[in-house]
Amino acid sequence: MPKATRRVVNEFMDRWAGEGVFGHFSEPSPWTKCDQDLSKSVARFVGADPVEIALMNGLTVNVHILLASFYNPTSTRHKILLESRAFPSDHYAIESQIKLKGFDPEESMLFVSPREGEDLIRTEDILRIIEEKGDSIAVVFLSGMQYYTGQLFEIEKITRAAQAKGSLVGWDLAHCYINVPLHLHDWNVDFACWCSYKIFKFIIR
Ligand SMILES: Cc1ncc(COP(=O)(O)O)c(C=O)c1O
Repeated sequence: MPKATRRVVNEFMDRWAGEGVFGHFSEPSPWTKCDQDLSKSVARFVGADPVEIALMNGLTVNVHILLASFYNPTSTRHKILLESRAFPSDHYAIESQIKLKGFDPEESMLFVSPREGEDLIRTEDILRIIEEKGDSIAVVFLSGMQYYTGQLFEIEKITRAAQAKGSLVGWDLAHCYINVPLHLHDWNVDFACWCSYKIFKFIIR
């Protein structure tokens, strides 16, 4: 936990205790627009325009919300490409969204894995699946950095290849956010989300 967290959280508790509902409107940092105050710096860290960013919820909730909008399966294009060892809550969110849209996870979850005896997923293997099965892939949803191996995926290259095949491309950037340079706008990424609690590193004075 960052050293200043306890102090800052307590300051918020004191404001809540003293101001009650008026904390939504009083300076500094009225709660009604505390997300807007942060959007500029968060946008900078992911290489996006502030209007492209919304600060809300936890990561898994956002995965659901994003897939609810971006995953629009049809009878011929209904697959979601993900890692065989995706973060468990991502895996379950994808499975749920496929079921919610009336499709069968057995048919619609398409996995990419490391080769036998290897730990990392080769970019060429991801690109091969996209090339071979791209016409049936509605969404490619991968992590930018694998939570277990630390593998950094080639976000721009994979995004471009999948979009060329007509898929939408989303990224779970939980472990990329603030750790590696991101250029989501320039890379033309369709959607992405990351861990909101990591923002705390930057709001603390
Ligand atoms: C890669 C990755 N995806 C998803 C999550 C889930 O985040 P949350 O529990 O905030 O929904 C985490 C949490 O650590 C994560 O590391």
